[in-house]
Formats: sequence, C-alpha cells, structure tokens
Amino acid sequence: MSGKRTEVAVIPGDGIGPEVMESALGVLEAVGADVEQVPFEVGFGRWKRTGEALSAEDLESIKQCDCVLFGAITTPPDPKYRSVLLRLRKELDLFANIRPFSSSRLDLIVVRENTEGLYSGIEVLGEEECRTVRVITRRGSRRIAERACLLASRRRRLTIVHKSNVLKSDILFLKTCREVAESLSVPHDDLLVDAAAYHLVMRPERFDVIVTTNLFGDILSDLCAGLVGSLGLCASANLGESRALFEPIHGSAPDIAGQGIANPVGAVRSAAMMLDWLGQAEKARAIEAAVGRALEGGVKTPDLGGSSSTRQVTEEIVRQIDSARKI
Ligand code: IPM
Ligand code: MG
Repeated sequence: MSGKRTEVAVIPGDGIGPEVMESALGVLEAVGADVEQVPFEVGFGRWKRTGEALSAEDLESIKQCDCVLFGAITTPPDPKYRSVLLRLRKELDLFANIRPFSSSRLDLIVVRENTEGLYSGIEVLGEEECRTVRVITRRGSRRIAERACLLASRRRRLTIVHKSNVLKSDILFLKTCREVAESLSVPHDDLLVDAAAYHLVMRPERFDVIVTTNLFGDILSDLCAGLVGSLGLCASANLGESRALFEPIHGSAPDIAGQGIANPVGAVRSAAMMLDWLGQAEKARAIEAAVGRALEGGVKTPDLGGSSSTRQVTEEIVRQIDSARKI
C-alpha cells in the first residue's frame, strides 16, 4: 500500500443533488469514514453557464479517484445535451447497476445492465422518423449475468427479465444469462418484463435477484422504489471491473429543490454502499443501522408522509450513529 488516502470524486450536481450530498457527507464524517473528498462541479447548471456539463479534464481527474459519490444531475430532453450520468457510466465502463430494495414485504436486488440496450446512444433523429438502436452483446450479457449470479449465489435465486418474444435481441440476452447461471449452478427462472412488473406488484416476495437489460432495469427499479415507499429511500452502486459510482436512484427533483425537504436517505445509503465497496464494511453497516432506527423513530421527510426536513433526518441519523458508538 502506498499510504495514499482513498480519494472519492464528489459530484453534488443539480436540483436536490447538493442538499442530499451534504447529508451523505455529514454522515460519512460522523461514522469516521476514511476517505478524502475531491469535489467536482459538473452538471446541467454548469452546462447552462458554460455550455459544457463535464469536460475531458474533469473526466480524467475523476478517473484518477478511487470511486465517485454522485448526488443528482438534471437531464433535459434536449438532443444537444448528453446526460452526464450516462456519460460517466459509459466512460468508466460501469456495466452493473446494483439496486437493492427492502421493506417488510420484499427483499430483492435489481441488477441492471448499464452500458448497452436502448441506452446505446446510437440514434437517428429526423423530423418524421426517429430510431434508437437496441444493442445486446454476448459480452455485455455475460458480464452482467456473472455479477448477478455472484449476488444470487449468496442469496436464493436469479430471475432473468426480458422481452424475447417480441425483441429478438433479447433471445441472446436470455440465452447468455441462462448459460452463465447454469455454469455457476445458480437456481434461476425467467419472466417477460410485463409479467415481471405485474408480479412485482402482486407478489414481490417471489423475487430475489433480478437481472435485466438497461431500460427495463430503469423502469422496474422505479417500480420497486414505489413498493418500498419512496424513491427517496433507494440507493445504487454502478460497478465496473475496478471502478465504481454510487448514487441515489432518484433524480434532481427541481420541483422541491432548495426547500430543504428532500429525502436524504437514498444518498446516505449510497454512501454506505460506497464504504462497503471500499472495504469499510463495518462503517457501512453502522450507517444502515442508524438509518433504520431513524426511520423507525418516525423522523421522515414529506415523501414518506412526514414533516421533517432534510437536515432533521440527517441529524437524527448522525445522532443514532453517535449513540450506537457509546454502547
Ligand atoms: C436512473 C436515471 C437515469 C437513467 C437518467 C437520469 C439518465 O433514471 O439512474 O435510473 O435513465 O438511467
Ligand atoms: Mg431511472
């Protein structure tokens, strides 16, 4: 070991991003996380000011860091604007988006392929007709299936979610995922995405680890967020071979930005997932436990039907961390 401290590229972003990032950083400090912050001002706000959301130099500096902690960045439906988050996923080759969800009724993980599918970026935009190419490769399917199987092998089973009856590209995805699951002796089944959406609502306890393509994973993970009570509660890890970016799965929520009422839990949990990935698992668990106790105690932001502010929720999580330490 070189003795160099772990460097985290911190990207607060737009909208509620900076508010929830402040909470996540406060909680990291409270738990004594061994990380050095390297702040980056990138996103839609910067694009409006300078015409550039993320420069090549930013990207190089971000790559020098050990991982990225990300708040939220606005992605307007403007053909000239390239989503910063999608760029980072692609440039850092963060092919596996791991999204855990748990509540009294369900405990599952959505493993979303993060670099291809309908997010290929290969698009032809015309006045009368537009096309988006859906890319499915054996390599891409194989590596996401391997990640999902690794998780499933420590849990119960894998469900492969696809639409291979209509989208013939999904025949390759399904076949490859099955081959990987069989070769690793992971119990598995599969569902068409529409049926998966139905069963997630009706019988969420049937699911354990779901592996799916990019857009289906995007949609199903918001559905799961609804099942656990709020998008604001949910965290994610975007993982590559050796790189990683951690982010709450909610967006920049411009409608409530600046009001101090954003739910910080998704961002705080993302910071916990980061610590776990960095090998600081005990601190990650301390954060998770503190979040659980804070929510049980009834400190909740308006998205959960409460009236606490972002700051009050954060303070309660920090208080829970401090009091657990005293025991
Ligand atoms: C997500 C988001 C992103 C996506 C947007 C912001 C580009 O919805 O992380 O789920 O579609 O992947
Ligand atoms: Mg989404």
